[in-house]
Amino acid sequence: MSTQPIGIFDSGIGGLTVCKAIADLLPGENIIYFGDTGRFPYGTRSMETITRYSREITGYLRSRDVKMIVIACNTSSAAALETLQNENDIPIIGVINAGARAACGRLKGESIGVIGTRATIKSASYVQAIHRIDSTIRVVQRHATLFVSLTEEGWIDDEITRLTSRKYLQEMVDQGVRTVILGCTHFPLLKKSINDIYPELDLIDTGEEIACEVADILKEKNLENPAPYGTIELYSSDITDAMQRLKEMFFGGDGIPIQKLIING
Ligand code: DGL
Repeated sequence: MSTQPIGIFDSGIGGLTVCKAIADLLPGENIIYFGDTGRFPYGTRSMETITRYSREITGYLRSRDVKMIVIACNTSSAAALETLQNENDIPIIGVINAGARAACGRLKGESIGVIGTRATIKSASYVQAIHRIDSTIRVVQRHATLFVSLTEEGWIDDEITRLTSRKYLQEMVDQGVRTVILGCTHFPLLKKSINDIYPELDLIDTGEEIACEVADILKEKNLENPAPYGTIELYSSDITDAMQRLKEMFFGGDGIPIQKLIING
C-alpha cells in the first residue's frame, strides 16, 4: 500500500483525457498532472528536444515523490519512454504499448491504422509495439496534425472536423482498416466526429487503456492507495483558454484549480 501520488504528464491539455480516465478508475489515488502548455506542441519538435523536456518533467515529478509516472503524451512516449525507464527506478509507462495491446486484442481484419502527430508517426513506435505482439499485422500509419489544432479550437463536433477526418482516414478505410489507434492525446475528443463519418471504425482510446495498465501495476507491486478519495493537483506551464476549457469539461469549474508551474533544466 502506498499513499504516494501518481505522476502524469503531457505536452499540454490532451493528457487530461488520460488523467480523467485514471481518476475515474482509481478514485483513491492522489494524482499530480503536469501539462507543458508553454512549450506545446511537442509533435513538430525533434526527438532530442522532446526527450529533454520529458526528462525535465520527470525530474520534477520525482521531486514530488511519485510512485509511478504515466507518460500520457504519445509523442513523449515515442521519443523518451525507454530513456526515462533506463534512468529511473520507479515504474514509468507510456500510452503506446497500452494502445498497441488494445488494438491487437480488438483487431477486426488484418490491418491496424494509427494516427498521431508527425513525430509519433515518424518514430514508428506504434508499428514496433504492434509487431512485438504480432509481426503479421499490417500497420497503416498517417499523421493527423490538423486534428490537434481542431481540438484546441474546440471544434470537437464540427463539419470541418468531419471533412478533415475524410482527408486523413479515407485511404486507410479503402485499404480495409477497421481498427484505428487514436495515437495522440487530443484525438479521443474527436471520436464522435470521426465515427459520424466512419461508423464502421473501432477507435482505440489509449487513455482508457492505460488506466487499466496503471491499476494492474499498482496491484502487482502492492502500491495501491487504500483511501476512498484521492487528491488531484493540476499544473501547467501556461494557463491557456484551451487548458481551462478542457479542465472544466472534465473536472468542473470549481474545486480543482490549474496552477502555473514552469519547469526547465
Ligand atoms: N500530447 C501530444 C500527443 O499525444 C499532443 C500533440 C503535441 O504535443 O504535438 O502526441
